[in-house]
Amino acid sequence: MNIILLGPPGAGKGTQAQRLQSDLSMVQLSTGDMLRAEMKSGSVLGEQAKGIVASGKLVPDALMVGLIEDRIARPDCAGGFILDGFPRTEAQAQALDTMLEKTGKKLDMVIEMEVDEAALTERVVGRFTCAKCGTGYHETFKRPKVDGICDVCGSTEFTRRPDDNAETMKTRMAAYRAQTEPLLPYYRGKGILKKVDGMAAMDEVYRQIRAVLVGA
Ligand code: AP5
Repeated sequence: MNIILLGPPGAGKGTQAQRLQSDLSMVQLSTGDMLRAEMKSGSVLGEQAKGIVASGKLVPDALMVGLIEDRIARPDCAGGFILDGFPRTEAQAQALDTMLEKTGKKLDMVIEMEVDEAALTERVVGRFTCAKCGTGYHETFKRPKVDGICDVCGSTEFTRRPDDNAETMKTRMAAYRAQTEPLLPYYRGKGILKKVDGMAAMDEVYRQIRAVLVGA
């Protein structure tokens, strides 16, 4: 099954995609993570993206489409993938349709994570990530079982994203409203849009997503 998790910054796309990946053996394709890896490696693409990501604006479509097209073609995607952060514009959505058609794949479902905008800044500003294995945490909503130690790999090093601050969130939200929200009617028109309550506790959000995908 190939799906998109669609929602604003902090909606919980990455959190739920990580769970789906380990539970249903689908591959998480996070364009945000891909860009952060490119930036860390100092590649040409990473250098091009750096300032744009830090500002909260969207990276140009051509760069993003190339990145995802290469990734979807890899063998591990054959068993199903979860798009997390892509598409984010109508041009990206159309490019995705074309690349799936070319490779004989199809999009099974788009899951909208419906959230209350007021809660998103708190979610994003409190987020931190294990520097070694990438597991995501939150100061209030998902602390490690033992403070300062990653539940999954035992690392004691954590990182925070430079774009996770209240000021940049304003630009990220504006980009979402102007460029990404219009994708909801696009996918509703195709009859593949489902909605879950992204404001529920993480386990409940996951239960709803799982129910939509595979039944109870
Ligand atoms: P990206 O990395 O995709 O960021 P985003 O879309 O802004 O989404 P986030 O990662 O902030 O949020 P999320 O929905 O994954 O939430 P999470 O699960 O972490 O993109 C970053 C940048 O890269 C963009 O701004 C842009 O510049 C560029 N970019 C990326 N893709 C692009 C594209 N296709 N085109 C152009 N540019 C692109 O949860 C957030 C926090 O809340 C966590 O701490 C979590 O623990 C907590 N939380 C999660 N769920 C719950 C819950 N139910 N209750 C309480 N807390 C919760």
